[in-house]
Amino acid sequence: MEVKTSLLDNMIGVGDMVLLEPLSEDSFLENLRNRFDHNEIYTYIGSVVISMNPYRSLPIYTPDKVEEYRNRNFYELSPHIYALADEAYRSLRDQDKDQCILITGESGAGKTEASKLVMSYVAAVCGKGQEVNKVKEQLLQSNPVLEAFGNAKTVRNDNSSRFGKYMDIEFDFKGDPLGGVISNYLLEKSRVVKQPRGERNFHVFYQLLSGASDDTLKKLKLNRDLSKYNYLSLDSAAVNGLDDAANFRTVRNAMQIVGFMEDEVQSVLELVAAVLKLGNIEFKPESRCNGTDESRIKDKNDLKEMCELLGIEQSVLERAFSYRTVEAKLEKVSTTLNVAQAYYARDALAKNLYSRLFSWLVTRINESIKAQTKSRHKVMGVLDIYGFEIFEDNSFEQFIINYCNEKLQQIFIELTLREEQEEYVREGIEWTNIEYFNNAIICDLIENHQNGILAMLDEECLRPGTVTDETFLDKLNTICAEHQHFESRLSKNSKFLTDHSLPHNCFRIQHYAGKVLYRVEGFVDKNNDLLYRDLSQAMYKATHSLIKQLFPEGNPGKVNLKRPPTAGFQFKASVGTLMRNLQTKNPNYIRCIKPNDKKASHIFTESLVRHQARYLGLMENVRVRRAGYAFRQAYEPCLERYKMLCKRTWPHWRGPAREGVEVLMADLQVPADEFSYGRSKIFIRNPRTLFFLEERRRQCLQDLATLIQKIYRGWKCRSQFLLLKKSQIVVAAWYRRYAQQKKYQKIKSATTVVQSYTRGWQARKLLRELKYQKRCEEAVTTIAAFWHGTQVRREYRKFFRANAGKKIYEFTIQRIMQKYFLGLKSTMPSMSPIEKNWPARPYIFLDGVHTALRRIFHLWRCKKYRSQFTEEKKAVYEEKLEASEIFKDKKALYPSSVSQPFKGDYLEISKNPKYQKLNSAVDEKVLLADVVNKINRANGKGTARIFLLTKKSFVLADQKTGQVKASVPLPDLTSVSVSTQSDGFFALRLKEGSASAIKGDFLLSSEHLIEIITKIHRIGATAADREQLNIDISDEFLVQFKQDKVCVKFIEGAPKNGNSVSCKRKNNRLLEVSVPTSP
Ligand SMILES: Nc1ncnc2c1ncn2[C@@H]1O[C@H](COP(=O)(O)OP(=O)(O)O)[C@@H](O)[C@H]1O
Ligand SMILES: [Mg+2]
Repeated sequence: MEVKTSLLDNMIGVGDMVLLEPLSEDSFLENLRNRFDHNEIYTYIGSVVISMNPYRSLPIYTPDKVEEYRNRNFYELSPHIYALADEAYRSLRDQDKDQCILITGESGAGKTEASKLVMSYVAAVCGKGQEVNKVKEQLLQSNPVLEAFGNAKTVRNDNSSRFGKYMDIEFDFKGDPLGGVISNYLLEKSRVVKQPRGERNFHVFYQLLSGASDDTLKKLKLNRDLSKYNYLSLDSAAVNGLDDAANFRTVRNAMQIVGFMEDEVQSVLELVAAVLKLGNIEFKPESRCNGTDESRIKDKNDLKEMCELLGIEQSVLERAFSYRTVEAKLEKVSTTLNVAQAYYARDALAKNLYSRLFSWLVTRINESIKAQTKSRHKVMGVLDIYGFEIFEDNSFEQFIINYCNEKLQQIFIELTLREEQEEYVREGIEWTNIEYFNNAIICDLIENHQNGILAMLDEECLRPGTVTDETFLDKLNTICAEHQHFESRLSKNSKFLTDHSLPHNCFRIQHYAGKVLYRVEGFVDKNNDLLYRDLSQAMYKATHSLIKQLFPEGNPGKVNLKRPPTAGFQFKASVGTLMRNLQTKNPNYIRCIKPNDKKASHIFTESLVRHQARYLGLMENVRVRRAGYAFRQAYEPCLERYKMLCKRTWPHWRGPAREGVEVLMADLQVPADEFSYGRSKIFIRNPRTLFFLEERRRQCLQDLATLIQKIYRGWKCRSQFLLLKKSQIVVAAWYRRYAQQKKYQKIKSATTVVQSYTRGWQARKLLRELKYQKRCEEAVTTIAAFWHGTQVRREYRKFFRANAGKKIYEFTIQRIMQKYFLGLKSTMPSMSPIEKNWPARPYIFLDGVHTALRRIFHLWRCKKYRSQFTEEKKAVYEEKLEASEIFKDKKALYPSSVSQPFKGDYLEISKNPKYQKLNSAVDEKVLLADVVNKINRANGKGTARIFLLTKKSFVLADQKTGQVKASVPLPDLTSVSVSTQSDGFFALRLKEGSASAIKGDFLLSSEHLIEIITKIHRIGATAADREQLNIDISDEFLVQFKQDKVCVKFIEGAPKNGNSVSCKRKNNRLLEVSVPTSP
């Protein structure tokens, strides 16, 4: 088996003393010391936890630690108080066993801390939820309240519990806390009036004075100065590490959480204040005439304030401090009190007031925290009772406390040591007896009904006659003389006569934890716990409701003449109840050990620890454990718990439980020396065997859970499936029904449609036949009618004039046409081809003819006109046509040239004698002769020249002399450039490289520009050997002047110098011609 973690892992020393080897007191202490030095303050003896007080906070109580120990086996992790708390809580929750946690140890050993740790652990691991959290919070917060009122600083412990506390926490079946009940045992009330040296009064007094607001103090009539109060010891008023003021706030807050009303808190504080005031009341003697001393109150101020606080009439209280009334049957006797008696009365009142207030607080807290439901619940009791006390001066209180511890030891012995051994015997298990000290004899010495010390004390208290502490001691000396554990100097047992450590007024008891010397002084008084009736009656008269409640015996209507039970008697009774209560529960032990007497960390005083280990019987505890078996369990629950680990016992074992367990153990192959079979229980020697079983069980439970889950899931799925299947059938049935219905309806409607179509078709067919028949009949009738008509008309035609219309029509048309043509002849337009007139058309129906006639007439008229032309005229018209092709819509000058006839020879060169010479120079026929302006290349000025054009060349000659200036053969002319405007400029551009081109191109201007260029073009067009002459019409062209190329640019300008065109050489590249805008 693999155990993941174990107490044995990383162990310092030995975690469980049962495993200590060799076992001796020294090794035991060495182990404790070793562990303590390594901050391991917890050590086990089996299931008992030994806790060493570290006197400093260790990081082992974190939430992480809580999680670590939660739901883990006791022996799985290193020893810790949490492991015990977890074990207790789980067996309470899972096995339904009521638990009690018994925390024992000396004063200051860490019991109260341990009880708080247990409670906080349980609070952390139990259920959560608003209601549960409230309960938890209230349970936890009851601690600070009770500690404030019931704890005090003592020489042993700065926060020593001066009362015993047993708290039952109640849980429901789930393990959620429901509430709790607190029982308190014997508050050490003498502390209220007097504190031993180096100790303090109860915390609450100091907390109130240092923590309350000024306002509160004023209301309570208190002064913050501690030295003003007789009841407060001053030598240790301030305690290291205790912040009274902060604690006061904590307490008030806790009271609020627990459920105290604001006025209840106020009442409580008033009572606390009243106790302080009470301590300040002082008495002085006053002699009376009869020789006796009476007491008088010295300063009535405190008395007055106290009475105001509690709502008591001052005179009533004053009287109660001066007189004592004794009632006996029918008599009432008043005696005066002397000063000592008055002080006694005062202190008795203070003690009673405080202790009753404390009991009231416990009752009030119980009211708040009690479980709200009546249902059965499980209980976990936590006992934190004052530890064993041995002081220099031990009195009644120590006697009582030690008695209580004696009883606890008894129960420990009973429940563990004796019970363990007896059990082995009972179960018939082989066993060697272990010697241990049984303290029953000491308990008997104290509590025996007849001759126990308490019984004798009660007897003394109730005895008539003079009773003193000395008479009580005498009685003890007589009766207990022979008891082994009783020692007294004057006892009848003479062996102590010479024992000087035993003073005369003392007796000594050998407690299980050591010898304690008790001084008898005060035993009788404290046991009586008398409060003069006058005082309780005075308290009852108070208007303060709480104080009235606390002193019910003061009610004059209910005077009870019987003596109240003594303190010893009450305590014995309550301890008895407690013991009976604890015996019904499963005990869990925490044994607290104090490592040193100095409240110091890191100090391990061996003698002190040895002493505690001894009287706590820890060694015996270990021995018994080692001799025996770590674990036992009755067969039935054992079988019940582990039966799933074996096939034969699972799920049911029919035979006796013991046999079942035997089968189980055999099946699991647990070694035989690891366990023994008792009569009713199985005993398991080693915790490991138990872990093994538990681990197997845990695994098995997991498997079982899986199995259950599997079966459940299977069942769930199957039922789901069956349900689905059933549903599916229902759905399918419904659906089929629905589908069939639909289908039927469809078929039905289809049938209706088909039927209606067929019927329609049949009806139409019939109709058609009928119609046809009818038409046939009609046709027959019509044919017959026509036939008859024709027959009749044929017979009667000769009698009609129906043909006359056509003849009249034809005749009329003939007449109209005749008239039309004759009219046209008389209104014929002129023969000019440009004549536009044409007579109007008389009838619309003649439209086509009329237009056609007009066209024919026009064509004929043009033909006639053309036939009159001569050859020359024809040539002129051809030239005009060509000019229009070249220039129309391209040059603005063109329109003005249309009406001018192209004369050609303007100079009549052959007839004019002036040009005789020139005429002879040209051998060809002159086609054109005119005067042109030759534009000077340098300045743009014009010079008149005669321009002659023949079929082969053009010639430029002087106008006056007729001398030829230039003659250029036409093939050398490449192109002519003109502007688009209305000017007469034109450039004749010559072929580059030809002879004529040496001087450059000619820029000329003429009024007959259109004619000249048309003619030049015409010559080019007729000459078959030459290329077509280029005519370039643009407002900007280049002209070659000698070497330079000059741009001739035409601009439209405002008319200057009349309407003439001006030409200017702008620079050597530009010649600008300004043409006036044509109007
Ligand atoms: N587990 C612990 N961790 C730290 N300090 C502790 C622990 N137990 C006790 N103490 C210290 O010891 C002091 C006395 O403990 P307490 O429980 O009041 O003793 P007891 O109730 O036995 O008289 C505490 O006030 C605290 O300072
Ligand atoms: Mg305590």
